[in-house]
Amino acid sequence: MTVTKALCRVDDIPDSGAFEAGFVDERDGIRDSLMLTRHSNVVRAYRNICPHAGRRLDWAPGQFLIEDGHVICTAHGAMFRLASGECVSGPCRGTGLTEVAVESRDGEVVLREA
Ligand code: FES
Repeated sequence: MTVTKALCRVDDIPDSGAFEAGFVDERDGIRDSLMLTRHSNVVRAYRNICPHAGRRLDWAPGQFLIEDGHVICTAHGAMFRLASGECVSGPCRGTGLTEVAVESRDGEVVLREA
């Protein structure tokens, strides 16, 4: 059975930008943070965790440094493509963000869980 959880409205995510949304993991009760991106109405979600040293990607809650289709981790400057999560420069080049399965449904972004 597939369970869905609404994270935000698609319109909450700026085109070619990023939006922070979270959900409570029912296994441990801890709120997980996601970075949602949208480009030409394609929505992607990544865990809001940098693969370099595990810091959040946003410099303040929900404030991401976006530049030319990339998000930059302000801790040590790693740069990730919004379209794929791939790290293209910085201390963890060649790694990538962890993508989380989401879909847009009736104007809402929903988390898909198996
Ligand atoms: S924690 Fe993101 S670049 Fe170091």
